[in-house]
Amino acid sequence: MRHTFTLANGVEIPAVGFGTYKAADDNDEAIISEAIRQGYRHLDTAAFYFNEEAVGKAVRESGVPREEFFLTSKVWRDRLGYDSTLREFEESCKKLGTDYLDLYLIHWPRPDDLTAEWKDLDVETWKALEDLYKSKKVRAIGVSNFLPHHLNNLLERTSIIPMVNQLEFHPGYMQKAAVDFSQRLGIQVEAWSPIGRARVLQEPLLMELAEKYQVSAAQLCIRFALQCGVLPLPKSSSGERMRQNLDVFGFNIEDDDMHQLMTLPQIGWSGEHPDRERVAI
Ligand code: A2P
Repeated sequence: MRHTFTLANGVEIPAVGFGTYKAADDNDEAIISEAIRQGYRHLDTAAFYFNEEAVGKAVRESGVPREEFFLTSKVWRDRLGYDSTLREFEESCKKLGTDYLDLYLIHWPRPDDLTAEWKDLDVETWKALEDLYKSKKVRAIGVSNFLPHHLNNLLERTSIIPMVNQLEFHPGYMQKAAVDFSQRLGIQVEAWSPIGRARVLQEPLLMELAEKYQVSAAQLCIRFALQCGVLPLPKSSSGERMRQNLDVFGFNIEDDDMHQLMTLPQIGWSGEHPDRERVAI
């Protein structure tokens, strides 16, 4: 298996990224520097993570050239709209200390479950992303937490198909309708919480298969995403586990085991849904 995916516009993206959400609360920069030391070059942040400055600093201080990194950020759900998205993009670049991003995403398709005019807001926001892309300020553009009806709204009213859709994805919560719909359109799916925020690691099937393949349950989840064609963005605060989570190219999950993993009943869902109030789990 290759260690990169290729987006619809030809841009190569490292096949495993580092999720920086709540990297370690107050210690983001040290965690991100450690992730870079462990070999991560694909860093996934967002305005809402409030750590873009820490990511930028860790990147600069690593001594690794900027072009070797793949940096993603996202416009937050209460900043949707054409002008505010352009402003947010500039703000993210400034905080990250870079003059371009590799990928910019709409973080959620609507500000909250009560906002009825989300369709117009998404279209205006997407037009801002299209303009940023056309002016080469960002190498690729996409969305996050978009279900088929959110994607359809963009497809009907805008011209560029998103290159990425970042979704919660792990054994026990695969969002098959959204993943299949995205993949049929050539949209690269990325997985946030690919190990289900560690909630799925005690699942007996995962423990059994981890033993069979002589890997950890977390490595199994990350490999599972890759074999589904989905790009995992695991988070960890430990150097050892960061390294482990990148070491997923030396084994292959057999088809029968993939099917078992795919058909697990729902486990480990975060409680987040783009059209509903958050469910406390
Ligand atoms: P820690 O920071 O102590 O490593 P997700 O990326 O699915 O949201 O999951 C993140 C959670 O999974 C964190 O609590 C993290 O804890 C834990 N985690 C990350 N990698 C591993 C691993 N290799 N083994 C066990 N737990 C892990």
